[in-house]
Amino acid sequence: MRPHVTVNIAMSADGKISTKERRQVKISGNADFVRVDQLKAGCDAIMVGIGTVMADDPSLTVKSEVLQRARVSRGQDENPIRVVIDSRGRIPVNAAVLCRGPGERVICCAEIIDPEVLQSLESCATVIIAGKEEVDLDGLLCQLYVMGVRNLMVEGGGTLLWSMFRMGLVDEMFQYIGNMVIGGSKSPTPADGEGFCLTGPFVKMDLVECVPIDEGVLLHWRMRPPCQVA
Ligand SMILES: NC(=O)c1ccc[n+]([C@@H]2O[C@H](COP(=O)([O-])OP(=O)(O)OC[C@H]3O[C@@H](n4cnc5c(N)ncnc54)[C@H](OP(=O)(O)O)[C@@H]3O)[C@@H](O)[C@H]2O)c1
Repeated sequence: MRPHVTVNIAMSADGKISTKERRQVKISGNADFVRVDQLKAGCDAIMVGIGTVMADDPSLTVKSEVLQRARVSRGQDENPIRVVIDSRGRIPVNAAVLCRGPGERVICCAEIIDPEVLQSLESCATVIIAGKEEVDLDGLLCQLYVMGVRNLMVEGGGTLLWSMFRMGLVDEMFQYIGNMVIGGSKSPTPADGEGFCLTGPFVKMDLVECVPIDEGVLLHWRMRPPCQVA
């Protein structure tokens, strides 16, 4: 068993999620910010890759005090469990995701992690070891389910999302498309990594909803079950 997985990503009209320097860029506006905060507040855990932590230093906290209080009144922590995918434990101990706001943190590493690094991480987060050289996402999701995580939000970046899509671990996706062109063949996209070849199997989705928000548009996709892929 694994949690229900919802991807949330913002991209430019030309399909880029940040610039060629891999620096965070504001793609959406205030209304979309509120939507994302609500999505975050409604999930049990929120996950990013270490590339995103190094590039953007996100705190992954719920920003609205009303939504924080609503979580607490439901018996939950103010913030969802924050999960970082980080094979070698590269995360800085002063990363915002580790330091800002109350709540549980999980760093997921692989067996290749240096034992000393592992020891230092264990003092600031729950560490899960899954996989040999990179994180075994299938195994991790099972472990998160055992920890009580039923709804998992994944916020990127493109390398982690590619792995999630390739392994059929995504159930739905909210994709905000902003009114800008970022450009660059090296700028990250919602699914980087190796990519499928001509024969696929491509991940297929059904469009649930398409709504204008701020100066762009929000697409809500539902993944087809793997048996219907292609
Ligand atoms: N617009 C948006 O909504 C949005 C959201 C998030 C991020 N971003 C952008 O995305 C960029 C960062 O993306 P990124 O692709 O560089 O990094 P990422 O996807 O955040 O993290 C990828 C890293 O995770 C680790 N990893 C461990 N096991 C893995 C596995 N099984 N599959 C995939 N990754 C695994 C690898 O590093 P190790 O080998 O060191 O473990 C890998 O390099 C930044 O530019 C950021 O601004 C944009």
